[in-house]
Amino acid sequence: MKHLLIVYHTQSGNTRRLAEAVLAGATDELVTEVEVRCLIARDAGPDDLLWAHGLLLGTPENFGYMSGGMKDFLDRTFYPVEGKILSLPYAVFISAGNDGSGALRAIRRIANGYPFKEVQEPLIAQGAITDAHIERCRELGMTLAAGLEAGIF
Ligand SMILES: Cc1cc2nc3c(=O)[nH]c(=O)nc-3n(C[C@H](O)[C@H](O)[C@H](O)COP(=O)(O)O)c2cc1C
Repeated sequence: MKHLLIVYHTQSGNTRRLAEAVLAGATDELVTEVEVRCLIARDAGPDDLLWAHGLLLGTPENFGYMSGGMKDFLDRTFYPVEGKILSLPYAVFISAGNDGSGALRAIRRIANGYPFKEVQEPLIAQGAITDAHIERCRELGMTLAAGLEAGIF
């Protein structure tokens, strides 16, 4: 059984909608050998990262950066897992008013240190969440789960 961890932060609910779509994709009935854990960033910790074989990180862009809640998760977990994670496959989904590049850059920079290995293109949902964003998040979740199950990542 492979383990997929989804960690997200949200303030006004947009990233939660993306996370729910990612979760729906990751738990698609076609994927049978992957256990999925979906947590708000404040409830996630080092043990969750050590449990995971794959990771999906979701954040709003706030002030050109990842949200404080996501940064807090990374701040709290970095040293406790240091040296215990070899190269965790991961991907990012972001909700942004009109940009998202600053949040992505910040996450990628920190992810290099863990180290996490980016295995799928990031999903940046700009503006109001659309059906297309939801569908792409569903695909992202399913791709990570199916890739873990198949041993691709
Ligand atoms: C304090 C604050 C700062 C923000 N800064 C940015 C920003 O730098 N770039 C951007 O594209 N959107 C920015 N936004 C808009 C949010 O990224 C956007 O509303 C997003 O959908 C919020 O996601 P959430 O509902 O999951 O909290 C900001 C919003 C807030 C509240």
